[in-house]
Amino acid sequence: MNNPFNPSFRRIPTIFLNRGQLINEVVEELNNPNSPYKVSIVYGMRGVGKTTFLTEVGRKVKQAPDWLVVNLAMGSNLMATLVDDLYMKASSDLQKTFESIRGLSFSAVGLQLSADLSKPTLSTYQGILTNMFTKLREKGIKVLITLDEAKSNTELKNFVAYYQILNREDYPVALMMTGLPENISELQNEDVMTFLLRGKRIALSALNLSQIEISYNNVFKRSGFQVTEDTLSKMALMTMGYAYGFQLLGYLVWNVAQKSKTVDQDLLDEIKLEYLVELDQNAYTKIFSSLSLQDKKFVLAMAQSSQHRVSIKKIRERLNRPSNFVANYRRRLLDDQVIKSTNYGEVAFTLPFFKEYVLQQYRFEQGLE
Ligand SMILES: Nc1ncnc2c1ncn2[C@@H]1O[C@H](COP(=O)(O)OP(=O)(O)O)[C@@H](O)[C@H]1O
Ligand SMILES: [Mg+2]
Repeated sequence: MNNPFNPSFRRIPTIFLNRGQLINEVVEELNNPNSPYKVSIVYGMRGVGKTTFLTEVGRKVKQAPDWLVVNLAMGSNLMATLVDDLYMKASSDLQKTFESIRGLSFSAVGLQLSADLSKPTLSTYQGILTNMFTKLREKGIKVLITLDEAKSNTELKNFVAYYQILNREDYPVALMMTGLPENISELQNEDVMTFLLRGKRIALSALNLSQIEISYNNVFKRSGFQVTEDTLSKMALMTMGYAYGFQLLGYLVWNVAQKSKTVDQDLLDEIKLEYLVELDQNAYTKIFSSLSLQDKKFVLAMAQSSQHRVSIKKIRERLNRPSNFVANYRRRLLDDQVIKSTNYGEVAFTLPFFKEYVLQQYRFEQGLE
């Protein structure tokens, strides 16, 4: 049997854990024309499951016959892609309706521009889209536009400016984006983009540890592996609910335990190094490098504590900074989900073995000096 775990980004995993009712709630909300979810941003660090979430919402939404789902990606011409995708995703009935729009013709891959329009401008696409959305509205068809990893650039600015018009005129077009915390906070700096920030924010929390344990139990036991409850709960703890960690750990354990068909503490010890290396390379390096110098000092002060949960008081003493300064960085890191607050006045790292990673980075930097 093939390894059922898949620690790669941007693919719906075979083993998918539901985050409670969140997806169903969002899908239901989208059917309400005045829902705050009409414009929403799923945000969180790399590997928490944003793309998977967005894909799953899209998959569910498009099961209803009165919905079209169009997936856009940064780096392409958003307006042009939207025109093409609306056409491609439409039923043949609807395609005929689009073809009836005066002056428009489509080929198998989308819009065919006439020769005199070989250099279409923004307003060319706006005009075309508004015609298409008007037809869709007449037919009672709603559209969900998804945009993975939104970043502030001219392309997105133009798109958002146009989307705002659609929204103001009550076209049934919803927009759901994902974004890394640092890219979302950049949207604040652009007037047009602040419109997005007023939308609904969906912060993805950690996957549930007992759900992870149950899932590992089912997968490994069903495939004939020997594993004790104690080992299963250790595995769940090793992931700390981090979605990428869940797939990665499952994947590594599955591969290494192929011969013995036994998952025990020795095996976990054996794969731990590989687990850490992959976490570092594929996620932590990027997450850490997006932090500011002060953020890094804060997390280092946390990592240097012997405790898992660190009091803000201790961090303040170690940083030797006034309390409002420390509170500000605490807030920033909480927003970015790098840390979580445990008890009052206490914080802990969100990601598994992130403390070890931070300390290792620090040792490397010390070595250079
Ligand atoms: N709900 C989930 N259940 C199980 N695995 C998940 C879930 N969400 C994400 N994953 C896995 O976590 C990893 C990262 O997911 P992804 O959606 O690419 O994260 P992001 O877009 O936030 O960087 C992938 O390997 C994916 O299969
Ligand atoms: Mg992603």
